[in-house]
Amino acid sequence: MALLLTGGTGFIGSHTAVEFIQAGLETVIADDLSNSTADVVDRIETITGVRPAFVCADMCDAEAVEAIFSQYDIEGVIHFAGFKAVGESVEKPVEYYRNNLLSTLTLLDAMRRHGCKVFVFSSSATVYGENNPIPYVETMQTGDCTNPYGWSKFMNEQILMDAAKADPSLSVSLLRYFNPIGAHESGLLGDDPSGIPNNLMPYITRVAKGELPHLNVYGNDYPTVDGTGVRDYIHVVDLAKGHLAAYQYAKDHAGTEVFNLGSGKGTSVLQLVETFKRVNNIDVPYVIAPRRAGDIAEFYADATKAEEVLHWHTEKTVEDMCRDSWNWEMKG
Ligand code: UD1
Repeated sequence: MALLLTGGTGFIGSHTAVEFIQAGLETVIADDLSNSTADVVDRIETITGVRPAFVCADMCDAEAVEAIFSQYDIEGVIHFAGFKAVGESVEKPVEYYRNNLLSTLTLLDAMRRHGCKVFVFSSSATVYGENNPIPYVETMQTGDCTNPYGWSKFMNEQILMDAAKADPSLSVSLLRYFNPIGAHESGLLGDDPSGIPNNLMPYITRVAKGELPHLNVYGNDYPTVDGTGVRDYIHVVDLAKGHLAAYQYAKDHAGTEVFNLGSGKGTSVLQLVETFKRVNNIDVPYVIAPRRAGDIAEFYADATKAEEVLHWHTEKTVEDMCRDSWNWEMKG
């Protein structure tokens, strides 16, 4: 019996592979390496002492997916693989919808043929849209997404809920991530965006390293603690442990469950920058820039349900996130 981690050499998938292997679960990683490299498998082996099976494959390729299910006895799918750049999704909506939806459909088809009953999906807090009050609770209405990436998460949630309705023996977990940052404390795994980063923490680490001149802080006139945007940052290792908790619950419970995976606490851009500077004893020059289109002032999770049902909560601090992100940037 094995678990299939699609996108398992990516940022969140690789950290989850480590947690699953350390929990004694057999893990098969599938990734087309379009946004990661095969040496991540070596790094997972270095950390855990176990080499997971690795298949280089696109999860939209029905023959390749069928071959994986034929070769391995897959008892659950943790589906990370997908395109994830918000700006690019606006430029290439067809590519985003095709890749992010077809992969889910292809996996569901193979699961049905092989009697595999557990699907854990990487969703996003972006499905809460622009109009919900904070903190976000799983029961709130979703939609009003601001870009095709967000809509692809929303549509995947709908597809999976419908599949679970049609097959009462299927177990679906929709995991809504808040803002994952940090890296493995070994410095062997982390976020490695190509080109100029869009997200805040990879931008901060490149500025600290001297590869970019300064951080642009997008707006300081929001109705927040210091005027800058507030988000719920979650250490990627805590997020990975959330997948393990969700899988262990899902394998014994059919039907759909939705979980916020966040800390429940908000941190502003300037609070994150100041913590990064203090913890790492390094300067991060910044300038105040205009607001970024599509940003909202503040959001964070109501993390109660994951605590009550999965007995999971975040353990790492914003200090840990800043230290581990910098350690990864220096070693990576
Ligand atoms: C973004 C995506 C979200 C996705 C998530 C992945 C948008 C609108 N949303 O979330 O769908 O799931 O990334 O982690 O793009 N900031 C700066 N300067 C920068 C970069 C960011 O000030 O150079 C600020 C932003 O204005 C925001 C905060 O930092 O207030 C976090 O930004 P970011 O890391 O891009 O995440 P989100 O926008 O929350």
